[in-house]
Amino acid sequence: MPGRPASPAPSRSAAVRPGPASAGPRPPSFRGGPHGPGTLTAVPHADQSQTTQKDAAPVYPGPPRPVRVRPTPLAELAGQLGIEAPVATEEGAEATGITHDSRAVRPGDVYAALPGARVHGADFAAQAADLGAVAALTDPAGAERVAAAGLPALVVPDPRARMGALAATIYGEPGEDLLQIGITGTSGKTTTAYLMEGGLRAALAADRASGAPADRNEGAQAAELTGLIGTVETRIGDERIKSERTTPEATDLQALFAVMRERGVRSVAMEVSSHALVLGRVDGCVFDIAVFNNLSPEHLDFHPDMEDYYRAKAQLFTKARSRAAVINHDDEYGQRLARETQIPVTTFSAEGHPDADWRAAGVEIGPLGSTFTALGPEGQAVRAAAPLPGTFNVANALAAITALVVAGIDPQTAADGVAAVPGVPGRLERVDAGQPYLAVVDYAHKPDAVESVLRALRKVTDGKLHAVLGCGGDRDPHKRHAMGAALARLSDTAVLTSDNPRSEDPLAILAAMLAGAADVPTHERGTVLVEEERAVAIAAAVARAEPGDTVVVAGKGHEQGQDIAGVVRAFDDRQVLREAIEAARQHPGHPYYASAAPSASRTQHHDDQG
Ligand SMILES: Nc1ncnc2c1ncn2[C@@H]1O[C@H](COP(=O)(O)OP(=O)(O)OP(=O)(O)O)[C@@H](O)[C@H]1O
Ligand SMILES: [Mg+2]
Repeated sequence: MPGRPASPAPSRSAAVRPGPASAGPRPPSFRGGPHGPGTLTAVPHADQSQTTQKDAAPVYPGPPRPVRVRPTPLAELAGQLGIEAPVATEEGAEATGITHDSRAVRPGDVYAALPGARVHGADFAAQAADLGAVAALTDPAGAERVAAAGLPALVVPDPRARMGALAATIYGEPGEDLLQIGITGTSGKTTTAYLMEGGLRAALAADRASGAPADRNEGAQAAELTGLIGTVETRIGDERIKSERTTPEATDLQALFAVMRERGVRSVAMEVSSHALVLGRVDGCVFDIAVFNNLSPEHLDFHPDMEDYYRAKAQLFTKARSRAAVINHDDEYGQRLARETQIPVTTFSAEGHPDADWRAAGVEIGPLGSTFTALGPEGQAVRAAAPLPGTFNVANALAAITALVVAGIDPQTAADGVAAVPGVPGRLERVDAGQPYLAVVDYAHKPDAVESVLRALRKVTDGKLHAVLGCGGDRDPHKRHAMGAALARLSDTAVLTSDNPRSEDPLAILAAMLAGAADVPTHERGTVLVEEERAVAIAAAVARAEPGDTVVVAGKGHEQGQDIAGVVRAFDDRQVLREAIEAARQHPGHPYYASAAPSASRTQHHDDQG
C-alpha cells in the first residue's frame, strides 16, 4: 500500500509466493543449506501416519515427517551450535531428522535429550540409539548418559533454546518457502486461523483461475494447498491431523513445515500460544505476518502477572520473529504493542475506530453471523462477513482480512474467502436437530471468553439463554470464581457442571464456581443449577429451552473426551447436545425437569430460529 510503509505492496499471487516483506524473486526451495543444491535423500521409514483419513493405520511414532531431506553433516550442526564436533562422530555422519521424543526417533535423527521437570531426556538415550539416532543434542547434565548410550553428544548449556534453529537447518529452512502467518492473543486464535485459511484458499483459487504460473517447490506435488496449525488440528490441504497441543514442539513444527512444503502447501495460518513463545516452540520460524488479537487475564498459572504475559506475546512482534505486524487497535495491550514494536504495523478496529488502518463499518449482527464493510486506509470498501455469530467474531474476521491484505491478497478475495468458511469446530458451532431454538457448542473456557460469548448470544436471542459450563481441573483455579459469576450474571439458566476435572474433586471445582455465582446479587442472576454429570447438565439446559431461546454448552468445544480422575471417556458436547435435544423431543416433561420442560405443542409450532 503506497504511502504506508507499514504495508507491503499488494500482489495477487502473494498467497502462493511467500513473504510479503521478502523482496525479489524467490530462491529455489531446498536451496542453500550446508550442501547447496543437491540430491534429496529419502528418509528411512518415513510415514505420514496419524491422519484422520479413513484407511490410515495409526502408526507410532507420531507427528508427520518429510519424505525427502537433504542430510546435514553432524560437523555442520556442531558448527551452527558453535561447538566442536563430538568426538565419537563417525566420519561423514549426517542427520536427516530431529526429535525430542525418544519413541519417535527414526534412523538418521538427532535426538534432543532435554532436561525436564521430572526426568531428563538423556535417560532415554539408549532407546533413541536403538531406533537409529545418529547423535544427541543435550546439556552438560545429560552428556554422560548420552555417551553411555553410544551416541555422539552435541552439548550446549540450553539445548531447548537451540533445538528449533537446528531443526530448521536439518529440514532445509522449510518455513522460508511458505507464507507464514502467526496468530497470537488470549482469545480467538483458533477462530482467526480458520478464517484466515479460508482467505488463503480463496487467494489460491483466484490465482488458479487467473492462470498465474505455479511457483512450485522441487519435489512438491502438483496440488497447491494451504495449511493450518492450531488447537484443534493441523490441516495440510484437506488432510487433517489431530493436534496434541496448540503449537507443536519446535522439532515437530519444522518437520511439519517440511511436509507441507513437499506436498505443495504455499501458505499457512498458525496459532502461536504464549507457551509456545516462552518454551521456544517457534524458534527457527520467521513469520511473514504476526497477528495480535487481544490480551486478557489468562494463563496466570504460567505467567506471574499480566506484564509477563504481555511480554511473552510481544516477543512475536520482534524483528527476529516476524516481518510485519497486524494488531487489534480496540485492545488496550494492542495499542501498546503497536507503539512498542519495531516491525511495520497495520492496525484494525472492529469497533470502527478512525485511527485504525482497517475498520469495520455498518456491522449487522445476526444469529448465524455478521455482515459489515471493511474500510481500508486508501479508501477501499469491501463487503465482508463473519461466518460466526458474535461481535468478537467481527474482530476475528477483520483480523484475518487485514492480515491477508497485508500478505498482498486482494481485499475482496480475502473477505469472500473468510465469509465462505463453513464454521470452526467447537467455536459457536451450531447443533441443529430441527429444534425451534438455537443450540451451540463453544470453547469459551476463560472468564473473558465466557463473558463475550454470553453477551454475543444474548444479542441474538429473543427468548432466554440457557448456558452450561464447567472449569477444568489441574488448571488455573483463580478463574473458576469469575466464570461461575459470569455464567450466573449473564444467563437465564446457568448450569454449573464438570469440564475435565482431571485429578481434582469435581465438587471442589463446582464449589469454587458456585461461590462466584453466589457473589452475584440475587436480582442480577439467573437460575443457577449445579449438576456434576455433564450429560445431565446439558439435558437440564435443553429441557428448559423454549422456542426463541438459546442453549449454549461451553468450555470443551471440539474436544472428544472428558478426563475424570485420569480416565478419559469419550465425550463430545456436540453429540451429547444433539442427543439431549432429540431425547427431549421424545420425552417432554421428563420428571426431573418437568417444571421447566417445554410443552410438546410449543416446540412443534415454531420454526428453527437458529
Ligand atoms: N476475539 C475474541 N474475543 C473474545 N472472545 C473470543 C474471541 N474469539 C473467540 N472468543 C471466545 O473464545 C473461545 C475460544 O476461541 P478460540 O478457540 O478461537 O481462541 P484461542 O485463542 O485459540 O483459544 P485457546 O488458547 O484456548 O486455544 C471461543 O469459543 C469464543 O467463546
Ligand atoms: Mg486455540
